[in-house]
Amino acid sequence: MAQAGSADPGVGGHWAAGPRCAPWRWALALLWLATAAGGPSRRQWPVPYKRFSFRPEPDPYCQAKYTFCPTGSPIPVMKGDDVIEVFRLQTPVWEFKYGNLLGHLKIMHDAIGFKSTLTGKNYTMEWYELFQLGNCTFPHLRPEMNAPFWCNQGAACFFEGIDDIHWKENGTLVLVATISGNTFNQMAKWVKRDNETGIYYETWTVQASPTKGAETWFESYDCSKFVLRTYKKLAELGAEFKKIETNYTRIFLYSGEPTYLGNETSIFGPTGNKTLALAIKRFYYPFKPHLSTKEFLLSILQIFDAVIIHREFYLFYNFEYWFLPMKFPFIKITYEEIPLPKRNETLSGL
Ligand SMILES: *[C@@H]1O[C@H](CO)[C@@H](O)[C@H](O)[C@H]1NC(C)=O
Ligand SMILES: *[C@@H]1O[C@H](CO)[C@@H](O)[C@H](O)[C@H]1NC(C)=O
Ligand SMILES: *[C@@H]1O[C@H](CO)[C@@H](O)[C@H](O)[C@H]1NC(C)=O
Ligand SMILES: *[C@@H]1O[C@H](CO)[C@@H](O)[C@H](O)[C@H]1NC(C)=O
Ligand SMILES: *[C@@H]1O[C@H](CO)[C@@H](O)[C@H](O)[C@H]1NC(C)=O
Ligand SMILES: *[C@@H]1O[C@H](CO)[C@@H](O)[C@H](O)[C@H]1NC(C)=O
Ligand SMILES: *[C@@H]1O[C@H](CO)[C@@H](O)[C@H](O)[C@H]1NC(C)=O
Ligand SMILES: *[C@@H]1O[C@H](CO)[C@@H](O)[C@H](O)[C@H]1NC(C)=O
Repeated sequence: MAQAGSADPGVGGHWAAGPRCAPWRWALALLWLATAAGGPSRRQWPVPYKRFSFRPEPDPYCQAKYTFCPTGSPIPVMKGDDVIEVFRLQTPVWEFKYGNLLGHLKIMHDAIGFKSTLTGKNYTMEWYELFQLGNCTFPHLRPEMNAPFWCNQGAACFFEGIDDIHWKENGTLVLVATISGNTFNQMAKWVKRDNETGIYYETWTVQASPTKGAETWFESYDCSKFVLRTYKKLAELGAEFKKIETNYTRIFLYSGEPTYLGNETSIFGPTGNKTLALAIKRFYYPFKPHLSTKEFLLSILQIFDAVIIHREFYLFYNFEYWFLPMKFPFIKITYEEIPLPKRNETLSGL
């Protein structure tokens, strides 16, 4: 996850040098193609989330119904010896009951709060969709375009203030750690880099089955993942977390081993497989991306039905399409514990 686009010919553009390419480069490129085309069975699971070298401006077609991060501000520099309280913040986005299959759906939004002892000021930090969940989960099928069109950026938002009532009333506002101003400043640098390189929201976690230890094919990349990454970073920087139960919402799909289909150009371009292109568009046709969260959940239920009947799902991940041979129980929304990290548990690049 950590290395920004290394070993990835699609991102850094190392292979796109064109006329200046030395012959050995071509040889290497061919070698790479040969390995890439080799055994699909030798894939790395879960598929690593692709990091980018910078964040592009969203396409003007994507128009937010609610302005992203309206009161956002740069992360302040704290005094090194300040004492900063860190809060776990969680609030329901939507809750409802759907039969026995999906049970009680509890979709929570996660964020982190900070409070400076020296200034008394407090802050909220969260990561969320620029154009809402529906737009990150389903594409637009635009008549003038052959390929499905995605408005799926997500980003970090930092602003002054913690709206206590918003988090406390139906959710959580609880102290999880106390850090120094110095640690906070180091975290801020990491957040900036994380925000520039991890730019696309991924709704689904895809696994082979709900049992423990089952293979994970794809990891989601959402608000809770950002909170978990930040906690992990803080632990690496020496923060000690309290021992409390911390649960998160995860939206699962269950499938056999996924098959790689290709990217936008290779599928929907002039040389693409028309049958496949049509199948993908047909799959997405019933799902409307410009939705409220409530409508989004209704769309999920529609997917649920489609998936049970046809046992197929076309997943878009890292701007590439994958076929998922769906398996029982197909789709699940859980609210499970992911414990707070232990101090200096792991070392990571990012
Ligand atoms: C989703 O994207 C469409 C297209 O830009 C936009 O019209 C709509 O407002 C977006 N939905 C939300 C909830 O922001
Ligand atoms: C993250 O990137 C978005 C989009 O460029 C920007 O609006 C936001 O302020 C950034 N967040 C932080 C915490 O720097
Ligand atoms: C954050 O600051 C506001 C304004 O001073 C205050 O009302 C609120 O209780 C504070 N919340 C926390 C968790 O510190
Ligand atoms: C808490 O839940 C109740 C009942 O669903 C709702 O009326 C209220 O607006 C919620 N409070 C907040 C701060 O979201
Ligand atoms: C965490 O690990 C790093 C690298 O091993 C080490 O330099 C650092 O001192 C550790 N921090 C704490 C607080 O133990
Ligand atoms: C799409 O896939 C083709 C064929 O595998 C590859 O040549 C091309 O660079 C890819 N395009 C992008 C934008 O990744
Ligand atoms: C095109 O895609 C369809 C559906 O995925 C597949 O059955 C067919 O074999 C593909 N054709 C070619 C020439 O790859
Ligand atoms: C949190 O998750 C644990 C196990 O993952 C579960 O036993 C517990 O009931 C969950 N708590 C809530 C409030 O749902």
